[in-house]
Amino acid sequence: MGRKSFYLLILGVLVAYYIYTPLPDNVEEPWKIMCVNAFLKTFSHLATFVELLGFNHCMDSFKFFLSFEEVPPTSDETVTVTDSTFNNIPVRVYVPKRKSEALRRAIFYIHGGGWCLGSAALRIYDQLSRWTADRLDAVVISTNYRLAPKYHFPVHFEDVYNSLKWFLRKKVLAKYGVNPQRIGVSGDSAGGNLAAAVVQQLLDDPDVKIKLKIQCLIYPALQPLDLASPSYQENSHFPILPKALIVRLWSEYFTTDRSLEKAMHSNQHVPVESSHLLQFANWSSLLPERFKKGHVYKSPTYGSSELAKKYPGFLDVRAAPLLAEDNKLRGLPPTYVMTCQYDVLRDDGLMSVTRLQNAGVQVTLNHVEDGFHGVLAFLIFKIKKRELNPYISWLNENL
Ligand SMILES: *[C@@H]1O[C@H](CO)[C@@H](O)[C@H](O)[C@H]1NC(C)=O
Repeated sequence: MGRKSFYLLILGVLVAYYIYTPLPDNVEEPWKIMCVNAFLKTFSHLATFVELLGFNHCMDSFKFFLSFEEVPPTSDETVTVTDSTFNNIPVRVYVPKRKSEALRRAIFYIHGGGWCLGSAALRIYDQLSRWTADRLDAVVISTNYRLAPKYHFPVHFEDVYNSLKWFLRKKVLAKYGVNPQRIGVSGDSAGGNLAAAVVQQLLDDPDVKIKLKIQCLIYPALQPLDLASPSYQENSHFPILPKALIVRLWSEYFTTDRSLEKAMHSNQHVPVESSHLLQFANWSSLLPERFKKGHVYKSPTYGSSELAKKYPGFLDVRAAPLLAEDNKLRGLPPTYVMTCQYDVLRDDGLMSVTRLQNAGVQVTLNHVEDGFHGVLAFLIFKIKKRELNPYISWLNENL
């Protein structure tokens, strides 16, 4: 074998390793998924390597890379876009341009990115908010919040909560022409986590008189107690959000100390004193039969109390909204939950549907059989266009 063919062989093996990923038959545009995944995988390996050398936290490398995807606030023919601050928290505001006699509906949107990444200015979120404002003739507030690894829980939660409370004041609503009876909160992934958490917290806040009309949780992360549910087991190596990444992101929300990540990875982080919380995230009792198929429920192995004492956040209902008691859930507004079959977070969303239904909350589940984590964020997939429609239609009917 000549030297050239040897190099070609090496190149072929590398390309195959980075690009080829076995995917289920029903996913659309598998090659596109593989290419996006190859890109993310390559970048993540580079970022991890840089981190190993001791230069840069890997999430900071990701952040730097994503900063090129941020766009300035630019109005178009239909929507006026401005950056502002609510209670010192930067937000981006979308107000439709067409004349309106009546007060408008409003969506308070919380972006995803695993508590470490993302911003309202990211092209994907800018487009989504613009589109929502235009299609619904609604005001959209897309909030930012401080991120890990620099900031840990509860900073993210508090930023979003303070920003939302600022918005829900009479004076601010009047300024944007918003109908106080028609306001909803929505978020995807880590944003869905924050959406569920702030909406629950609002129920007990004596300062806020306004009742939200709806909430939307788009492939949300709702609990870090059991990281071995069927969806975690089935999709642990699925593109975009493999288990290793979500475990890293969850743990970074609470601490940069990698011992929590290690314990979470083997699902041995919940201390025995907190065992009563496991009933709220028990997939054996909360998942519909068809999602349990082929899996046997194992009670988790209890972890060290030291870890939970040091980082109590992961057992806190403000970080894990699925841990709320039933009587808390009863007060929640009609809820839209979107879940994807090929997503480690699928069971979080499905378990929340069962819990909300048991508590008598009106829930609409849109389970996407051929979906994967992040489908509404990636512009290049056809599935995005398809799945935006049911979300917007639901908002149109229920908000
Ligand atoms: C989870 O639910 C199953 C079945 O309903 C039950 O047998 C098990 O004890 C529960 N485990 C925990 C930790 O709540």
